[in-house]
Amino acid sequence: MEQYAIKGGTPLVGEVEIGGAKNAALPILAAAVMTDETVHIDNIPDVRDINVLLDAMKSIGVMVKRDSRHSVTINGANINSLVVDDENIRKIRASYYLIGALLGKYKNAEVTLPGGCDIGCRGIDQHIKGFKALGAEVNLDHGMIRTHCEKLTGNHIYMDLVSVGATINVMMSASMAEGTTIIENSAKEPHVVDVANFLNSMGASIKGAGTDVIRIKGVSKFHGTDYTIIPDQIEAGTFMFGAAITHGDVTVKNVIPKHLESISAKLLEIGCEVMEEDDCVRVVASKKLKHTHVKTLPYPGFPTDMQPQITVALGLAEGTSIVTESIFENRFKYVEELIRMGASIKVESSTAIIDGTKGYTGADISAPDLRAGAALVLAAISAEGFSTIDEIKYIQRGYEDFHIKLKKLGADIELVESEKDISKFKIKVV
Ligand code: EPZ
Repeated sequence: MEQYAIKGGTPLVGEVEIGGAKNAALPILAAAVMTDETVHIDNIPDVRDINVLLDAMKSIGVMVKRDSRHSVTINGANINSLVVDDENIRKIRASYYLIGALLGKYKNAEVTLPGGCDIGCRGIDQHIKGFKALGAEVNLDHGMIRTHCEKLTGNHIYMDLVSVGATINVMMSASMAEGTTIIENSAKEPHVVDVANFLNSMGASIKGAGTDVIRIKGVSKFHGTDYTIIPDQIEAGTFMFGAAITHGDVTVKNVIPKHLESISAKLLEIGCEVMEEDDCVRVVASKKLKHTHVKTLPYPGFPTDMQPQITVALGLAEGTSIVTESIFENRFKYVEELIRMGASIKVESSTAIIDGTKGYTGADISAPDLRAGAALVLAAISAEGFSTIDEIKYIQRGYEDFHIKLKKLGADIELVESEKDISKFKIKVV
């Protein structure tokens, strides 16, 4: 089984190129099947969740051609099944974007219910509410979500909570409904805007993405397009916090600094220097980190996908910090692992109370989910001594070449597959 072996104690220093946003690429790839014409998409990250989705698309007859590692050509003219039940698709949350896409185009879709990282109960009631409001019948049975209708009709939809997935899914179907749809209380994340821009580039008429109210005039047909995905806000934020955690100096390149504002603000608050340029941000952590309080919130608030990374940093800060998770109910599972590395953290329901310690110590730990896994890797790079991290398949869901990028920044990290590899690594780095 693949693991990371890490010898800690080296600050991350240098430049790192950020890839395309996974959480924008997933719905954009699914939406690409909504036209019979050819779509080219650039800057897709080469990560497991993306590859699973592309395989599921192939399984229903979509032509998928990987032109290069980061670009793909898609043609959905010869779709031969509206039932997506690929065994791997169950493992990714984004499977549900095929419902919105197929329902919009064919008024019919059956997709296996979504899985994804185990970070709490992840409802889909708002997706269903939206599809029903557009006139679709929706049934859940045998692990599948089945939805169909004669026609979709625009409607006024108020989302009961802010959901990235539901906003995107309903936006996709509504863009091929008859008449106008208004989605209120919609999510404002950069990837929601990116999907709207992509749909508009195929001929949709969507206004207001990035605000609370999205207005969609339905059209009957989409056309082909060439599109480039935005940079990954969370990959960038992870490396920015990597600088803080390891007392390093990291420049994240190919980013949109505006998308990183809540992350930069917290880094400044805890005593880091943050320097922004047009498409890069440099974070220098030369002083002792300071404590702070943070609550995860929908964009433009501090992202839940950055919660483990900031907790790892605050575990090393002077004084007591409080981190409140308001999006997912079970996103502190990694804290147990961090405590084994010397952290002093108490979790009470959705709040972590953190007493900063001088430093972490290396340990054999396990990644419980994608972002927590990445945060634990950063903890291990800052720690004294050796660590191994298993279950890195979670990290590979969303970070391309994570250990290679960290190595280029100076980390002593290796992908290993056996005890023998670990021994070899230890001999190499002592
Ligand atoms: C997306 O998940 C991302 N996943 C998540 O990224 C991210 O953490 C999350 O948005 C929040 O930003 C993808 O884009 C594939 P939500 P999503 O719908 O769409 C509740 C990562 O690490 N809810 O905004 O599933 C839900 O349970 C991952 O890359 C309902 O109750 O998130 C959660 O508490 C992990 N009913 C909250 O809303 C619904 O119908 C926000 O979920 C929908 C959501």
